[in-house]
Amino acid sequence: SHRYAVFGHPVAHSLSPRIHAAFAAQFGMALEFVAMDAPPDQFGQVLARFAATGGRGASVTLPLKELALDLCAEVSARARRAGAVNTLLRHGDAWQGDNTDGIGLVHDLAERRRLDLRGRRVLLLGAGGAARGVAPALLDAGVGELWIVNRTPEKADTLADALGEPGRVHTRYWSDLAQLGGFDMLVNATSAGRGGGGLDLPFSLAGNRALAVDLNYGEAAVSFLAWAGAAGIQHRFDGLGMLVEQAAEAFALWHGKRPDTDEVYEALSSRAD
Ligand code: ATR
Repeated sequence: SHRYAVFGHPVAHSLSPRIHAAFAAQFGMALEFVAMDAPPDQFGQVLARFAATGGRGASVTLPLKELALDLCAEVSARARRAGAVNTLLRHGDAWQGDNTDGIGLVHDLAERRRLDLRGRRVLLLGAGGAARGVAPALLDAGVGELWIVNRTPEKADTLADALGEPGRVHTRYWSDLAQLGGFDMLVNATSAGRGGGGLDLPFSLAGNRALAVDLNYGEAAVSFLAWAGAAGIQHRFDGLGMLVEQAAEAFALWHGKRPDTDEVYEALSSRAD
């Protein structure tokens, strides 16, 4: 029988099994979707065993998204551009890789929440895997300017070069943040909140009617969103909406059916744990 899974390390906390179970229930489908832990050095073997035992599709989360790209025979243009794969599809006897994170973020903000991203002056904090995953989709969504600031400036420059839009994409040093003026949208793509560390950000970054989104969710997003609240930003979201939307994209790729994301998002955002 067909099997689906999310791979990560650690992965026990993953909401993906619950999300996919809820999507499947909308269509009355019986779906096996489990969380599978795979240390990076064993991911190749674990994934091969999964395929040999009926694995047809998988989500990939931290820290395996870059490795997943190397394990695919074919990779979509957007996954190649992100340098990371978050969705695996079995195609014949090989894996096909895609990346639905960026479109997931844009669907969450622009479609589900009906926030117009076009023309916005955007600050992207971070230049790691998460930032690479969403930057192309933000440009495709029509943002006006994308300013990339990363603690290690070389990585911001590498990402900007890869995006290949020097007219819209700019980089600055972290120490220049106070000189950049206000933004219409602030995206925290750093992992600082996951390590317990906070970011040192000036309130001057918050423009009028700005939107703040943290790509992390839950506890890991608290510190940045609290800062955004203190800076007077009213539209503040964590990455739970993006998580649900990227899962819906993956579900559609695997099963050819598009689930309703609102009810799943509402159920997860009001859950007790
Ligand atoms: P992810 O897959 O979550 O993006 P990553 O690829 O390891 O993880 O990237 C982590 C990002 O968070 C990087 O941009 C990192 O900055 P560096 O490139 O300078 O390492 C950023 N980051 C992590 N901790 C940070 C902190 N305390 N302050 C600022 N940036 C931080």
